[in-house]
Amino acid sequence: MKIKLLLTIILIHLISLANAQLSIADSVAFKNKMQWFADAKLGIFIHEGIYAVNGIDESWSFYNKKISYQDYMKQLKGFTLKKYDPKYWADLIAQSGARYAVVTTKHHDGVTMYDSKVDSLNIVKSTPARQDLIAPLFDALRKRNIKVGAYFSLLDWSNKNYTGFTKDSSRYKLADDYGRWHQFRTFFQSQIVEIGQKFKPDLWWFDGDWEHSAEEWEASKVRDLILKGNQNAIINGRLQGYGDYQTPEQNFPVSRPSFAWWELCMTINNNWGYHPDDMQWKSPYEVITIFTDVVANGGNLLLDIGPRADGTIPDEDVYVLKELGAWNQKNGEAIFNTVAGIPQGHFYGPTTLTKDGGILYLFLQGDISGNVTLKGLLNNIKDVTVLGSGTNLNYKIVGKISWSKVPGLVYIEVPKGVQDKYVTVLKVRLDGPIKLYNGKGGL
Ligand code: GLC
Repeated sequence: MKIKLLLTIILIHLISLANAQLSIADSVAFKNKMQWFADAKLGIFIHEGIYAVNGIDESWSFYNKKISYQDYMKQLKGFTLKKYDPKYWADLIAQSGARYAVVTTKHHDGVTMYDSKVDSLNIVKSTPARQDLIAPLFDALRKRNIKVGAYFSLLDWSNKNYTGFTKDSSRYKLADDYGRWHQFRTFFQSQIVEIGQKFKPDLWWFDGDWEHSAEEWEASKVRDLILKGNQNAIINGRLQGYGDYQTPEQNFPVSRPSFAWWELCMTINNNWGYHPDDMQWKSPYEVITIFTDVVANGGNLLLDIGPRADGTIPDEDVYVLKELGAWNQKNGEAIFNTVAGIPQGHFYGPTTLTKDGGILYLFLQGDISGNVTLKGLLNNIKDVTVLGSGTNLNYKIVGKISWSKVPGLVYIEVPKGVQDKYVTVLKVRLDGPIKLYNGKGGL
């Protein structure tokens, strides 16, 4: 009897050990899958759709009744892509320094940007463009070593079997007609399979999950469908809990988010799609300061552009992407393949670290000169230089008492004339992996 009990206990232990190891293996595999994303730091988001014809809010304009559905759909006739040059788009994205791009395959209006076999509401069959937007773009991006992502709206306000339509008129309640909902679900899931097979995205960017629950979308099944086609695909967080990373939309975090992986998605003016009456363009300085802040806090920036219906890209978008690219050319060492910087309080500004912790990068926003301070650094410094020019900077250790464990303050002298026109980066080479002190002092 006793032996039986002992054997059962041993068996239970063995099983839980095996399970623990399985989940460790899983998390190692998961980390590996996420690595390119963690290193990428910058993605370009592209909202292209028929809403660009009139230059109105993407899909929301008819949902919010700013325009009738009928008039909204008339834009199909004006969607030409006449000057669409995917190689130019890909060149521009590469020039910005981005390592991935995400493009709308289907927005909330249900119009697909490729030839969907399950719905003729697509730009190949229903617009004068008569061409697929996605395949040539993905091809051009991949040739430039840029990962590709598919934006896909789960909700589809055009589909006759979808529950919602406009803000105050819905088609039906799911509970009243489960069969109809099931038809919609079969439909959107078949589009996901279609996109997976046709374009093999490295990343899936879902949107619109808020209208239904995980059970109603069958979010777990959707995730499985994707991973069955490509086990390395990364999925954003808008899949009712079944995604891989968080997307704090247009939200500039004040403190470091606690998520392991996150991405701030942000427009360059205040709209996702082409919107000629929106002149609220962010300047390159604003975009670069936001970008460095995001990276310093362990996130990526997914920066959006809204091309016109003929496929051209507004000059303001181009300008920001090019300036950002030039800045990345000079300072990218402090951005790409780095990790989040030191905790707030040690330095008044964003910082990043090399993966081995041996180099600390300090970002100086604006036209800063004079002495900047670093607190609680236990390491010895090898040298401090300015990225780009390589200028060596003087620094002074202040208040280091020989018998105390409290490190001195580091004052780095930043002379006039070494500044970048947007954000200056100081490279602090340390004698080993960074060690910080934030104790209470004393002996
Ligand atoms: C929102 C909007 C949508 C936009 C998206 C991008 O969820 O519904 O129009 O495409 O954000 O993040």
